[in-house]
Amino acid sequence: MSENPAKDFGAIADDYSFFERHATEAREDVRAYAEELRGRLPTTGVVRMLDFGCGTGTFTERFLDELGWAPERVALTLVEPVDAVRRQAVERLASRSGTPIVESATLPAEGAGPFDLILANHVFYYVPNLRAELAKLIGSLVAGGTFVTAIAGRSNALIEFWIAAFGELGREVPYHVAEDVEGALQELGASYAKRSVAYELVFEDSEANRMRILRFLLADYLPLLPREFLVGLFDRYACDGQIEIRTASEHYVVGK
Ligand SMILES: C[S@@+](CC[C@H](N)C(=O)[O-])C[C@H]1O[C@@H](n2cnc3c(N)ncnc32)[C@H](O)[C@@H]1O
Repeated sequence: MSENPAKDFGAIADDYSFFERHATEAREDVRAYAEELRGRLPTTGVVRMLDFGCGTGTFTERFLDELGWAPERVALTLVEPVDAVRRQAVERLASRSGTPIVESATLPAEGAGPFDLILANHVFYYVPNLRAELAKLIGSLVAGGTFVTAIAGRSNALIEFWIAAFGELGREVPYHVAEDVEGALQELGASYAKRSVAYELVFEDSEANRMRILRFLLADYLPLLPREFLVGLFDRYACDGQIEIRTASEHYVVGK
């Protein structure tokens, strides 16, 4: 993996939204988080929560709905580097936090919080200085707090697309995967549990739709690759006019 895994989600917002609309990933992730957090958080009082890499806040909203927390039980902090996207999240979630939302583009160098709960849903692919950032996040938890994160590993079908595409370019995948997060957690001596969470990505099979997913996955690298090679990556998943991908991501639950 390279030292610069950054990706500008502002530029690929529509393609990412296509993925979100056609994947069960978010639904399966919120269900899994709710199970993982059962018994780990106080049942009364305010939960100080950080959503790191919150995007537009749609996942955060779903997460809060699944956990059934009334706004007065939540004090929300959002970190999201794309300003316009972060503004959407703040607007969307303003009524879901009992206190004014604290927001920033990055986590302060000294960390933040303390938080009872930190969520980072499918974010670490793109985060430079992974181990240092994980250390900051774990350091921002209150004693007894919980940090939950989802990220796909090398056996995930879309990560296999990354591996094939960057292999074709003769370079390593520039983004982090689950194995990198797990290695960093081990180096940090963090106490964590791990499990796989299955999901589906199903959409009408057309070259335009295949390219939407590829733009989300490859962003600026897309024009460097032959179109025929790229669209062909989906062939093994074609079935009766649809693309049907059944795969899984990894969840890590880190306690402090
Ligand atoms: C795949 S999206 C996930 C968004 C949201 N967590 C969700 O589940 O819908 C990845 C998000 O990570 C954000 N991101 C990228 N680099 C980041 C960084 N260094 N620190 C925090 N967030 C980052 C992106 O801007 C994007 O919103």
